[in-house]
Amino acid sequence: MIKTKAAIPEREVTDQRVFAARRAIIKAAAGAATLSFLPGESVAEQKKYAKVPIGPYSADLKPNDFEDVAGYTNYYEFSTNKTDSSVLAQRLTTRPWTITVEGECEKPGVFDLDDILKNNPLEQRIYRFRCVEAWSMVVPWIGFPLAGLLKQFKPTSKARFVEFTTLYNPFVMVGQKSKVLEWPYKEGLRIDEAMHPLTLMATGMYDDELPKQNGAPLRLIVPWKYGFKSIKAIVKIKFQESMPQTAWNKSASNEYGFYANVNPSVPHPRWSQSRERVLGAGVFTPKRATELFNGYGSEVASIYVGMDLKSNF
Ligand code: MTE
Repeated sequence: MIKTKAAIPEREVTDQRVFAARRAIIKAAAGAATLSFLPGESVAEQKKYAKVPIGPYSADLKPNDFEDVAGYTNYYEFSTNKTDSSVLAQRLTTRPWTITVEGECEKPGVFDLDDILKNNPLEQRIYRFRCVEAWSMVVPWIGFPLAGLLKQFKPTSKARFVEFTTLYNPFVMVGQKSKVLEWPYKEGLRIDEAMHPLTLMATGMYDDELPKQNGAPLRLIVPWKYGFKSIKAIVKIKFQESMPQTAWNKSASNEYGFYANVNPSVPHPRWSQSRERVLGAGVFTPKRATELFNGYGSEVASIYVGMDLKSNF
């Protein structure tokens, strides 16, 4: 988010080997959607989550092409370059994977992700995704409601907020050797935001497991907030009484608020938020007008009644 290379052709800023490897990885993953296999079953049907049902909160929108979503990622643990992380993130081992649950709850512990997935039925949710850098896309996520998971740990009455933490491993996540952010990456939600039925824990997209660059094996998706709230590679969930300190808020509190609700009338110091560039749309396609709460106002506006959305950005 802090760097922009928009004016420089990608080939000139990306090492040639990384460029070639990235193309191969994205093409191989995307190929599953288009090729056919013998006998009988298409590759698309062989995808791990091909049979996951569509959930009731899924939007009736046409998703972006897989390449738009998997080939243009923000993952500072690997790189500040949106294309290099597709290659660098492949070094991450995503199994076994545990989630530590702690803080204000009756059932803390360390839980294996595969056990969590057995107890939380998956569904597909097509959601709009809006980055604070003023671009957007539509993604068919595979996941489960965060609320159902959190209730299993029995939060106490002191649990007013939930903090999420990403893995810290600078040997693999080479971007953590730089001081671009304070590591590990942390994010947080108010408990009612975390319990909202739209808030999703995603483990897949496009009928398959999440690509590593998109946050495998488990990430948060909060569709009415800017994308930086959607923390990737989660290893810890903590219930707490105080508002969590988040990575972006610590790095520039005037630019990245805790709430970060999509709001076209609150400009970021470097990006107007009134319009958004839709990824994959042609250069002559006009930008889309950004909607308050990213278009999810009828579902979420009621939880912010009485709050000044301009100062609590
Ligand atoms: N989570 C971690 N751990 N590290 C990151 O750098 N980037 C955030 C968010 N989650 C980020 C992260 C930002 S700025 C955005 S816009 C979204 O992930 C991008 O998600 P995507 O790369 O899947 O499009």
